[in-house]
Amino acid sequence: MKKFLIAGNWKMNTNVYEAVELAKHIVHGVSTRNIADKVQVLICPPNTNLDAVHRELKDSKTILGAQNCHYEDKGAFTGEVSPNMLKQFDCEYVIIGHSERRQYFNETSELTNKKVIAALNHEIKPILCIGESLEQRQNGSTFNVLAEQLEVGLKNYPKDKIANLVIAYEPVWAIGTGVSATTEQVVETHLFIREKLCSILGDNAKDIFILYGGSLNPNNAQEILSSNNVDGGLIGGASLKHDQFLAIIDYAISI
Ligand code: 13P
Repeated sequence: MKKFLIAGNWKMNTNVYEAVELAKHIVHGVSTRNIADKVQVLICPPNTNLDAVHRELKDSKTILGAQNCHYEDKGAFTGEVSPNMLKQFDCEYVIIGHSERRQYFNETSELTNKKVIAALNHEIKPILCIGESLEQRQNGSTFNVLAEQLEVGLKNYPKDKIANLVIAYEPVWAIGTGVSATTEQVVETHLFIREKLCSILGDNAKDIFILYGGSLNPNNAQEILSSNNVDGGLIGGASLKHDQFLAIIDYAISI
């Protein structure tokens, strides 16, 4: 049986009232579905809403994550949030190295590596995001870019913590554009990622969840989620609309 992680990245959206409302709808929707062991549902609201959403998720099957963290525990890092601060809200996952962080906040693969290790040290599972730009895809350097992001981002990754790692392949050109990668591109790229993970971390990497992200929606979810080496989705826009997010969960249940 194929298992899935369906994750919503709310990005810099929702005030606290909207976040609670959205979380309520998702919790209710998930509670009326038979997700059993088949689908894990994760939502990643902005930090300002973690407390309120955490309360909404209490005793539910939906779990909480964050969108970013610093690699230090505490200190003079104005505006940053540390993994142990996220742990206060029972965050099980943290998204690391999203392309928007790489693009707008100059995050390098070296920095994502520090964050991955810091998250693990606090028993938070990292979702390491990787992906090529349109220019990189067009000039044929996609696999080199992904290889660098994985090799550097996973440097010194402890092999006994492989089960805690999630990778999200998010082609930058597919994010928020309404144009997802084609199924062929997804299959080819996820296979490359799987093989690269096995070469970096060994054979156990065959079980690492690799999510697809980039304009995933109810229209393309069934086909993309059915593809080889796709273990779930990291969803932006469609995760802000509970009916769309739940429709994607329904496809995951049905596969
Ligand atoms: P969209 O689903 O809005 O394309 O965003 C994808 C994404 O960046 C998730 O992290």
